[in-house]
Amino acid sequence: MKPVKLGLLGVGTVGASTAMVLKNNAAEIARRAGRSIEIIQASRRAIGSGMPEGCDNIELVADPFEVVNNAEVDIVIELIGGYQPALDLVLQAIANGKHVVTANKALIALHGNQIFAEAQRMGVNVVFEAAVAGGIPIIKSIREGLSANLIESVAGIINGTGNFILTEMRDKGRDFDDVLREAQELGYAEADPTFDVEGIDAAHKLCILSSIAFGIPLQFEAVYTEGISAISTEDVVYAGQLGYSIKHLGIARRTDKGIEMRVHPTLIPHKQLIANVDGVMNAVLVQADKLGPSLYYGAGAGADPTASAVIADIIDVARTITTDAQNRVPHLAFQPDQIVDIPILPITEIHTAYYLRMRVEDRPGVMAEITRIMGDKEISIEAILQKEPEAGVTQATIIMLTQKIREQQMVDAIEAITELPAVHGAVHRIRVETLDGD
Ligand code: HSE
Repeated sequence: MKPVKLGLLGVGTVGASTAMVLKNNAAEIARRAGRSIEIIQASRRAIGSGMPEGCDNIELVADPFEVVNNAEVDIVIELIGGYQPALDLVLQAIANGKHVVTANKALIALHGNQIFAEAQRMGVNVVFEAAVAGGIPIIKSIREGLSANLIESVAGIINGTGNFILTEMRDKGRDFDDVLREAQELGYAEADPTFDVEGIDAAHKLCILSSIAFGIPLQFEAVYTEGISAISTEDVVYAGQLGYSIKHLGIARRTDKGIEMRVHPTLIPHKQLIANVDGVMNAVLVQADKLGPSLYYGAGAGADPTASAVIADIIDVARTITTDAQNRVPHLAFQPDQIVDIPILPITEIHTAYYLRMRVEDRPGVMAEITRIMGDKEISIEAILQKEPEAGVTQATIIMLTQKIREQQMVDAIEAITELPAVHGAVHRIRVETLDGD
């Protein structure tokens, strides 16, 4: 059978690794795909940098549109990233009847509905395993491996850079900026690293996971997003003393009223496996009605792990190229006419527990004032920790854990507590998730 011909857009960290792995593992890949797979043309902005060693048989061009318009190319591999020109290139490739493999989560999260509609119309595949959790086959697992189940929730550490930063700060007391610089050097961070630390990258990925899990349209703008930049070493230490780790989680949960989609720092009990996922590693915990909980763990960023997911997609497309388009796996896991609109809940309507840290006057009655407010707002307290004031200081730090409540109750309670004359400064709040499936 004749080889499957690829056109590669972008020869950066992941693009170069994809070319190298396709070359080095060519025989094994051909055994799996049933035919050989070769890159025939690649585009690179810095064309003078050439192709990686041993890949100089691949024609290199500066204009990516030359690749998507190349009649010889069967599958376009989009590894440029960002919204434009990636969107125009992908739409052009689809219009030309080519299948597309992409690692571009921003593109899928924001423009996926349009891209998949065009792909459906043209009868081509657009696949994106590498867009979520790097090398972990989480898309395939949810879309195909769990297709017998009603998915109840998905909770994941889905940004390697953020997890790397939190881990290094906790274990080595390293400075935020210093760790971020290292993540950039290692090729983990986004071109704009605020996407990593402010949770935008994780929100892109959560938006994609939610569509795959619940059969809803991609709706990035509905994801509540909070980054890690406000987390202090103090919170990391206190959380540890209470038996929790602070992780930056993406959570999508089906409730009776709608779907929660949120990205924020979260306290997780140490006993949960996911609380022990450190460094650049990612993990996704899926609650499904028949399987129960299952955890997917692996490298969430980096050249070879991401290339591993890109190439798995290429092999899948190579296998289905001979299959009739109506019988292929649907882009968003559900048949296009079965994508439904379920309301997405505002953050004030979500239910979760809370960790609170506040600075208060160390005198009788203050704790009673605070707990009275909590009682008035029908918030039940799970644990209280009062730190001894330092010598000569009249203020003490109070840490509280609450039971699960509606976010609006917490918002109201924090507002009332902050107004107490005995409370100094802000009440710091981090959501707590036990992740035990309730
Ligand atoms: N910047 C991303 C991360 C790369 O750190 O997880 C993988 O998507």
